[in-house]
Amino acid sequence: MQLLWFLLFLVPSVTPLSLNGSSSPIWGTFRPNLYFGLRPRIPQSLMTGLIWFGTQDYQSFTKARHACEQGDELDGYSWTQFDAREGGIQVLKDSKNNVKVTTELLMVDAGEHGGSWAARIKGEPINKGKPSHTSFIFYVGLEGMGGLDLETDENKNGIEGPIALTGSTPEFDEFNIRIEDGPNNTAFSSGPFSDVYAKRIGKTHYSGFRVPAGNIWQAKRFIIDDLVQNAGNAVRGVKEADSVPHPSFTLQLSDETLSGNNLLAFQKSFDGEFQFDIFYESRSARTNLSAATLDEGIAAFSTSFTRRFREIFPVPDSPKRDALEAFSQAITSNLLGGIGYFYGTSLVDPSFSYEWDDDSSPADDDHKGRDSKGSKLTEPKALLTATPSRSFFPRGFYWDEGFHLLHIGEWDNDLSLEILKDWIDLIDDDGWVAREQILGEEARSKARQQFQTQVPSFANPPTLTMAVTAFIKRLRRHAGPTDMDLGLDFGTGGLQLPLSSSQLSKCNRYVEDRGLAMSFLQSIYEPLKRHYKWFRRTQRGQLKQYGRKARSRTEAFRWRGRSEKHVLTSGMDDYPRAPPHIGELHLDLLSWMAFFSRTMKEIAEFVGEEEDKLYYANIEKASIDNLDDLHWSEGSQMYCDVGVDDDDESYHVCHKGYLSLFPFLLSLLPPDSPHLGSILDLLHDPKHLWSPYGLRSLSASHPDFGTGENYWKGPIWIQMNYLALQALHETYAMHEGPYQEKARLIYSELRRNVIDNEYQRTGYVWEQYDANTGEGRREVTFHRMDLFGDMSENGPRNPYTVITDLKILSHFEKY
Ligand SMILES: *[C@@H]1O[C@H](CO)[C@@H](O)[C@H](O)[C@H]1NC(C)=O
Ligand SMILES: *[C@@H]1O[C@H](CO)[C@@H](O)[C@H](O)[C@H]1NC(C)=O
Ligand SMILES: *[C@@H]1O[C@H](CO)[C@@H](O)[C@H](O)[C@H]1NC(C)=O
Repeated sequence: MQLLWFLLFLVPSVTPLSLNGSSSPIWGTFRPNLYFGLRPRIPQSLMTGLIWFGTQDYQSFTKARHACEQGDELDGYSWTQFDAREGGIQVLKDSKNNVKVTTELLMVDAGEHGGSWAARIKGEPINKGKPSHTSFIFYVGLEGMGGLDLETDENKNGIEGPIALTGSTPEFDEFNIRIEDGPNNTAFSSGPFSDVYAKRIGKTHYSGFRVPAGNIWQAKRFIIDDLVQNAGNAVRGVKEADSVPHPSFTLQLSDETLSGNNLLAFQKSFDGEFQFDIFYESRSARTNLSAATLDEGIAAFSTSFTRRFREIFPVPDSPKRDALEAFSQAITSNLLGGIGYFYGTSLVDPSFSYEWDDDSSPADDDHKGRDSKGSKLTEPKALLTATPSRSFFPRGFYWDEGFHLLHIGEWDNDLSLEILKDWIDLIDDDGWVAREQILGEEARSKARQQFQTQVPSFANPPTLTMAVTAFIKRLRRHAGPTDMDLGLDFGTGGLQLPLSSSQLSKCNRYVEDRGLAMSFLQSIYEPLKRHYKWFRRTQRGQLKQYGRKARSRTEAFRWRGRSEKHVLTSGMDDYPRAPPHIGELHLDLLSWMAFFSRTMKEIAEFVGEEEDKLYYANIEKASIDNLDDLHWSEGSQMYCDVGVDDDDESYHVCHKGYLSLFPFLLSLLPPDSPHLGSILDLLHDPKHLWSPYGLRSLSASHPDFGTGENYWKGPIWIQMNYLALQALHETYAMHEGPYQEKARLIYSELRRNVIDNEYQRTGYVWEQYDANTGEGRREVTFHRMDLFGDMSENGPRNPYTVITDLKILSHFEKY
């Protein structure tokens, strides 16, 4: 068995990419867990990374910077501008080492052989009055087949001048990489021992390693070990502490390579300001890359990025406009710059269940819950995904991704579809997809053990369908208003998007080309259908067993995998629910399923599956009927979960909060629903959900408000506020009904409250906001979703990113 697993590692199970025809970039900063790490979207291939440390003392290198870690105590790291096709600019503030580092990236000649790129790493002291002694290591590693060779002549004292390497891989054929210094770099060169080390000062030091398969991601360990060993040799024999050479003389790589090395590292040490460039030229490069390419290219990128940003996400005029725009650009850029490519095995435990999970057989000893027959490694899988947090959650999260894709899709439709397609490809034969995608050793190293294993009977809100809905909306918008209800008209009569640059076309081929749009929707239709059926089969709730009266005898649902205190699968971890019971019914899941049915209906319509369309339309209607029949409490005037008491009688479990809003949040209620009025009252009531900073997750009058973990017991969550704004904007304020005026009023107030809150005051984006003060939360004990990475050891499980703020800021118009 062991041997078989080993073979599986060697054989990539993913479809080979067509490097010529791909509509999205092959290379990218797809190692977002690193401060700066490029790799292609190819399972086993090149991996690059940047490591740095201060050489002001002999301690700083023990905290060498590489993967985004809260413990590094950087003041911030943020892409200020980023586009997956063009490049980006990232600023990293490291005041512990008195250096502000900027990483600039320019993608060149995308297309054949995966394209080329150029990167510039530059730095300057944060405090100009103080020394800034730093050392930077750039490495290139190779997983899988191919080779890497240092072309430049080696020298045991280090290399003077530019570095050149060549290499080859099966996908790229041959390529070359050059590393060149900027014009004004200086190395620290004075004080004791400077004469002894004179020959080595100012050189590029290097080292080559033969790293076992699957271990390139641990490059830092090999590199630092080499450095430590070499420094040990250098300072051996030094007797007194005060006669130790300056660290920048000794903390150096060993200047040795090996034949057949698959990891090459290059180190440069600086005193004060510095700059160096890295050029990767593909076999079919059409441009000779040089410092001038970066000088001109980055300036041009920055200008065109801002221009395009203003077209897509215009920020309304106001005294705060500039600050808002910079903020909006950074949010978008960090979302895009946080996209990663992951490849590897994951852990799955098919036998795990809780006693109340399985309603087909009574609980027996095998199903007592919490005990399982253990988890197994799956075959390796690949995923391109945005990540909720570069330091805490550098991996894919199902629920988050639906929200991520809404925003990514507005900026770059085709990239969002590429990501969506990767998720769709993860849907297994049963129709299941794990809610956390922890693929490969590197990803696992960042997840606490108890959360690594995924269970094939556990779900997550099907937010990926929101991405499909958003794509269909873009298709409709592109087709123009004439055929809104009839499907698509790609003819010349349709309105074009008010955007014309060729750049935009690159991102919108699937919107502009009817054939591509169709084939995409067709390609996801069957797997989504499987996914839909999986939900209906595995998360079904019981109706007849409890004599429940409802127009539909089938549409009722219940999250599996809940514990006594948490329903992690629902996404709203600690939101108050009934005690676990085989007979309980969950309002949010029925709402999601109604929404899912609606999405399937829309796709069926586009791909011309008329019968399916009717099928989904019927289920959608049945689900919406059952929302009222099963979940509406006349006494409480709100939608509620359903629990089962000791006499096996059903009762409504009513806790005023986000859960109560679900039929409204997903626009399932018709604008003339008699229940809409009390929902709007509930959300607009300051005693309950309304706060000057957005909607609270739980009523301020609820006995549990602000108690326990206080995760979904009051705090204000941006994406839920986003859903509320969307429902108001697109449905209840838009369409005629008795509450239209009220919906408009609430929409503009809520929008203002959310925008004016914390991130405007602090420049940070937080995972959630305090229900009483509006202050950003999870700074210390949990994690902070800010622009600059985030904090803390004890990250919560469901870190839903913030992403869509921008839409709130600028995408919706004001009434
Ligand atoms: C990619 O394009 C080049 C040049 O047009 C061609 O020689 C090569 O065969 C193509 N490769 C694939 C995989 O289509
Ligand atoms: C290098 O120094 C010269 C002279 O001070 C200056 O003009 C130039 O802008 C500097 N170049 C860089 C890249 O810092
Ligand atoms: C790149 O440089 C090489 C060697 O200097 C030269 O032969 C080639 O024409 C150049 N290519 C371009 C596109 O400028």
